[in-house]
Amino acid sequence: MTERFRAFRIDERDGQVRAAFESLTVDDLTPGDVVIRVAYSSINYKDALAATGAGKILRRFPLVGGIDLAGTVVESADPRFEPGDAVLACGDGLGETVDGGYAELARLPSGAVDPIPPGLDARSAMAIGTAGLTAALALHRIETNGQTPALGPIVVTGATGGVGSIAIDLLAARGYEVAALTGKTDARAYLERLGAAQIIDRRAFAKPPGPLGKATWGGGIDSVGGDVLAALLATTRPNGNVAAIGLAGGAKLETTVMPFILRGVSLVGINAAVIEPALRAELWRKLGGEWKPRHLDEIASREVSFDELPDVFPEFLAGRIVGRVIVRIGG
Ligand SMILES: NC(=O)c1ccc[n+]([C@@H]2O[C@H](COP(=O)([O-])OP(=O)(O)OC[C@H]3O[C@@H](n4cnc5c(N)ncnc54)[C@H](OP(=O)(O)O)[C@@H]3O)[C@@H](O)[C@H]2O)c1
Repeated sequence: MTERFRAFRIDERDGQVRAAFESLTVDDLTPGDVVIRVAYSSINYKDALAATGAGKILRRFPLVGGIDLAGTVVESADPRFEPGDAVLACGDGLGETVDGGYAELARLPSGAVDPIPPGLDARSAMAIGTAGLTAALALHRIETNGQTPALGPIVVTGATGGVGSIAIDLLAARGYEVAALTGKTDARAYLERLGAAQIIDRRAFAKPPGPLGKATWGGGIDSVGGDVLAALLATTRPNGNVAAIGLAGGAKLETTVMPFILRGVSLVGINAAVIEPALRAELWRKLGGEWKPRHLDEIASREVSFDELPDVFPEFLAGRIVGRVIVRIGG
């Protein structure tokens, strides 16, 4: 294909990360057997870290940013896909080692591509995006490890963020009592509408209570890490599960083995980028069906054009975004 298209590409020169719109052809992209006309992408925390250089996300330069995308197949060497198929991709190295979703055309290894499931279109798939897939993976993993609503309330940290918002929606729909931990106490009404039964000021978890505190929570879905995760582990009830997803508050974890060996608490690691493809496809089917977030329009109320994309990254890094931001590429 000789068509030229716009891409938001990230490069590093003299140790400085720079990102800009460029005109590319498909042959400029990393190898793949499926070419996709991108309709929508989204902004995840990782995208903001990558595009600004605030975090070391890219493992090769230059690279088109965007860890997820949804659109239509243009051509495919894999017989699983045909031109015109509606598809999405999240993880599998997109925007890290493989040119990602911030481009009008993408070329991906077919193993990274899933059909958009019934119940979703390209826009709603990106309203869910990597954040929603990650929240669904966390729910799947803790339930596989025995979590039930009867074990007690689930704490969702970074509650107003993309992962947090969708996690609250999914958990509440499955009958869990949700305690939303947030730094934005003015977002109470938003969090309650998603299904949170309690809103907790982030400062209440700023310091772990020691190796063990009062056993209060059934478990947690944690996007924050650091002392917040340590405090959550120390206050989780026997046999509860805490899913560790992110590090918005810090990568360091200072804890003891006490929650694990005295209360049988499990720390469940979540990485949507290395999910098994069959489970990824199953979770997408659920996200379009019985697990479809009930408040998607409210969670992803902000849509920006491709041109506006760079302006939004600083807001993400400052933790000012509520919910998800969809990026309209060609949709
Ligand atoms: N493991 C995976 O596969 C995977 C996948 C996706 C994302 N992640 C990670 O999960 C985290 C959340 O991602 P996201 O896309 O949901 O990001 P996001 O939309 O920016 O949400 C992060 C939320 O964390 C809270 N927060 C921000 N700065 C904080 C700080 N200094 N201390 C404590 N809380 C802070 C804020 O919520 P409140 O104001 O409500 O507290 C913020 O909205 C990131 O670390 C991301 O890299 C991991």
